[in-house]
Amino acid sequence: MTQAHLTLDPHFVVGRIDRRVFGSFVEHLGRCVYDGIYEPGHPSSGEDGFRTDVMELVRELGVSTIRYPGGNFVSGYRWEDGVGPREKRPRRLDLAWHSLETNEIGLDEFARWSEAVGSEIMYAVNLGTRGVQEALDVLEYANIHSGTALSDQRIANGTTEPHNIRIWCLGNEMDGPWQLGHGTAQDYAQLAGKTARAMRQIDPDLELVICGSSGAGMPTFGEWDRIVLEETYDDVDFISCHAYYEPVDGDLSSFLASAVNMDRFIESVVATADHVKALRRSEKTINLSFDEWNVWYLSRYDNVDKITDVASWPKAPRILEDSYTALDAVVFGGLMISLLRHADRVTAASLAQLVNVIAPIMTEPGGPAWRQTTFHPFAITSRLARGVTLELKLESPTTPTALYGEVPVVDAVATYDETAGAASVFLVNRSLTEEVTVQIDASRLGMSELSAETLHDDDIHARNTADDPDRVVPAPNTSARLHDGIITVTLPAVSWTAVSLS
Ligand code: AHR
Repeated sequence: MTQAHLTLDPHFVVGRIDRRVFGSFVEHLGRCVYDGIYEPGHPSSGEDGFRTDVMELVRELGVSTIRYPGGNFVSGYRWEDGVGPREKRPRRLDLAWHSLETNEIGLDEFARWSEAVGSEIMYAVNLGTRGVQEALDVLEYANIHSGTALSDQRIANGTTEPHNIRIWCLGNEMDGPWQLGHGTAQDYAQLAGKTARAMRQIDPDLELVICGSSGAGMPTFGEWDRIVLEETYDDVDFISCHAYYEPVDGDLSSFLASAVNMDRFIESVVATADHVKALRRSEKTINLSFDEWNVWYLSRYDNVDKITDVASWPKAPRILEDSYTALDAVVFGGLMISLLRHADRVTAASLAQLVNVIAPIMTEPGGPAWRQTTFHPFAITSRLARGVTLELKLESPTTPTALYGEVPVVDAVATYDETAGAASVFLVNRSLTEEVTVQIDASRLGMSELSAETLHDDDIHARNTADDPDRVVPAPNTSARLHDGIITVTLPAVSWTAVSLS
C-alpha cells in the first residue's frame, strides 16, 4: 500500500489566514447577475428581485469578499449607468462579452445584496476606457457620507449610509490584448499610479490592488509585474494574479497537479514584488490578491466575437457555464491548498466566479439552484481553515507529469486555530489509480477528537445537475483514526479530503 507521512508542529507557522482568501467574484457576464443572483418573478425572489435560494447557498459557501462588477466587463463600464431610477438607466453594448447590458443592477443594489449575504465588496474601477476622474467619482458616490454632489446623489437614490468599500482594484487584466484599453505596462502603470494617488487623497486608508499578470503564461509575465510595481510601489497594497486550469490534450496527471503551477506562479510574483522592494530599499511588503482562480474549460468556450451583428447581442446569454466533475473538484481543492500554503503572502483571493459563470452555484430560470462539485471543497475549507497555516514536513511518493515533472502524489496543507483549540488538514490524492494511506503526526497539537470527509467518485467525470444535484458530495471518511496523536487516513485515487481536529 502506498504511504505518505506528514508532521504538524504548532510552532512552525507560515502566516495568519486572512478571511479575504475566501473571496469570490460577481461579474456582469452571462447569467451571473441577471438570471443568476437576480431574477424578479422567481418563486424565491423578494421584492428586490434577488433569489433567496441563491443567497442561502452563497452564505453556506462562506464567501468573504466579492469582487464586482468585472472582469473584462469593467473595462467598458460606466458605473453611473447603474444608479438612480431604473426606468432611466441606459441599455448599453457590453463589448467584452458581446451582450446587452440593461443596468437593472448597479452599485447600490449589489451593495444591498452583498450585505445581505454577509460579504464585503471588492470594487474594480474602469481603467480601460476611463481614468482618474471616474474612479474618484465612484469612490465619492460609494464612500462619502453626505454633503457632496455624488454622495447626496446616492442618498437621493435611496441609500442613506455610505457603502464604505475598503478594497479597490485598479482596472482588470490590463496586460491582456483582449482587454478594452490594453496598452503597455508603462502606460497602465502611470494611469494606475495617478488614480491610486488621487483616490488616496479622498481616503488614504483604502487598500488598492494593481493589475499584475493575467496568467503565468503571458508573454509579458514577470516584466509586466516588475514595471507596474516599480511605478506604483508606494501607492498600492496588492498585486493581482489570475489563473485558470483545464486538462490539456486529455493529460489528467498534469491537470491533477495544477496546484504545482499555482505554487510556482505565486512564488514568482512574490519574488518580483520583493525584488522591487529591494530596489527601492522599501520597508513595505506588497501582498498578492489572487483575484481570479478556478478550473475553467476555456478551450470549450465558444468565442463571443462570433456574434458580429450588434443588434442581436443578447441579455444574459448562457456563456461560460461549465459543469464541474468530481475530478474538477479535486483539482479545485488542490488550488485552495496552494492558496492557503502561501497565507503569508496571499492575503486576498477571489474564486471566479460565483453563480452560473464558471461557478460553484448554478440556477435555472424559474427553477432550482444547486451546488456544483466545486462548491464542497470551497465551503468546507472556508469553514474549517481558521487561524494560521502551519509549515508541513510532507513525505510522499511522486508521480510523473508531462507539464511539471515528478510531483508528490499527495498534497496537503494544515491550519491551526489556537484560540478555538482546533486544527484541520486538507489533502488531495493526485494518483489516477492508487489509494494512499497518510500518517499524520499531530501529537504536538494535543487534540483528541477527529472527523474526516472525502470528496471522491468512482466515476471521476460524475457531476451534479438540476435533476441530480447531490450526485457528488463529500462523505465521512471511515478509515480516519486518531491514536496517541497519530492520524491515519486512506485517500482514494483522485480525491480531496478534509480532516478536522479538536
Ligand atoms: O472570469 C472570466 C474572465 O476571465 C474575466 O472577465 C476576466 O478578467 C478573465 O479573463
